[in-house]
Amino acid sequence: MVDQAQNLRELVRQYQKKARVIAVTSGKGGVGKTSTSVNLAITLASRGGRVVLLDADLGLANVEVLMGLSSMFNLEHVIEGQKRMTEILVKAPGGIELIPGSSGLSRMADLPVQARQRVLEGIDDLQDETGFIVIDTMAGIGQNAVSFATAADEVLLVTTPEPSAIVDAYAMLKTIYGLRKDSIVRLVVNMVGNQAQAKAVATKLANVSQQYLGRNLSYLGCLPRDPHVSQAVMQSQPFTLIYPNSPAAKYMQVLASRLVHQPINAEPARESFLKRFAQTLGIASNA
Ligand SMILES: Nc1ncnc2c1ncn2[C@@H]1O[C@H](COP(=O)(O)OP(=O)(O)OP(=O)(O)O)[C@@H](O)[C@H]1O
Ligand SMILES: [Mg+2]
Repeated sequence: MVDQAQNLRELVRQYQKKARVIAVTSGKGGVGKTSTSVNLAITLASRGGRVVLLDADLGLANVEVLMGLSSMFNLEHVIEGQKRMTEILVKAPGGIELIPGSSGLSRMADLPVQARQRVLEGIDDLQDETGFIVIDTMAGIGQNAVSFATAADEVLLVTTPEPSAIVDAYAMLKTIYGLRKDSIVRLVVNMVGNQAQAKAVATKLANVSQQYLGRNLSYLGCLPRDPHVSQAVMQSQPFTLIYPNSPAAKYMQVLASRLVHQPINAEPARESFLKRFAQTLGIASNA
């Protein structure tokens, strides 16, 4: 009896140690993924718990620029085997920890298997004692973004109300569901004029998702087009920190709160980030 109870407690403890891994993605570029990732991570951290932000945009490392940081080591050092993921982790504004990306690296998919494996294992190591791992990915249906999106526990699909962004968001959705039918995708409509506009976009995408992909698309919420966002970018500071009372910061609080209150209910899936990621990249993993 005692053994069973201990085993159960150990199981629960292990489960609780697993972070929620959230990939922030989009079809079209420039829709606000990086801005959303940084400020969402900060807002989640303000509610308590450890939050790690991973800059997985291996082409352009702009999370650091957005946060006014300049780190000595980044993902490139992990890829080259010079550092472990935990060694390149830096403390960032807003109480979060950041894994800096690296500029000018080739796509994840083009890296040697061993290098990819190092990054994946590093992400898996980070899951311990962490509440959320937010991954800022590259735009589009390239291998890099798609690998992160299908490996993560959940995906935040960011779009704007622009028709081209909506069309590209649908293409991304189709790719994600095509690779993993049980993906949990939540939509964020950024740069909206009002909530009705955001809801119209969400309804349109949910309808096509249901009709052509046979999948529900849940709507997490929206962020207003807010000059504070670009003003903060100009100052290399997250808008949630320098403009905490701005409309964008207030909407971000709502998004974070909804995320926290909509926990995923997929215990087995949470334990196999590494495996799913390896599968999408076509490499074997024992995780
Ligand atoms: N809600 C908003 N209101 C006003 N401007 C915004 C908003 N969200 C993002 N922006 C602006 O849009 C630009 C692009 O944002 P961001 O870099 O976050 O997009 P991205 O999707 O990460 O781009 P990329 O695909 O190049 O990585 C930035 O200059 C940012 O200031
Ligand atoms: Mg970006």
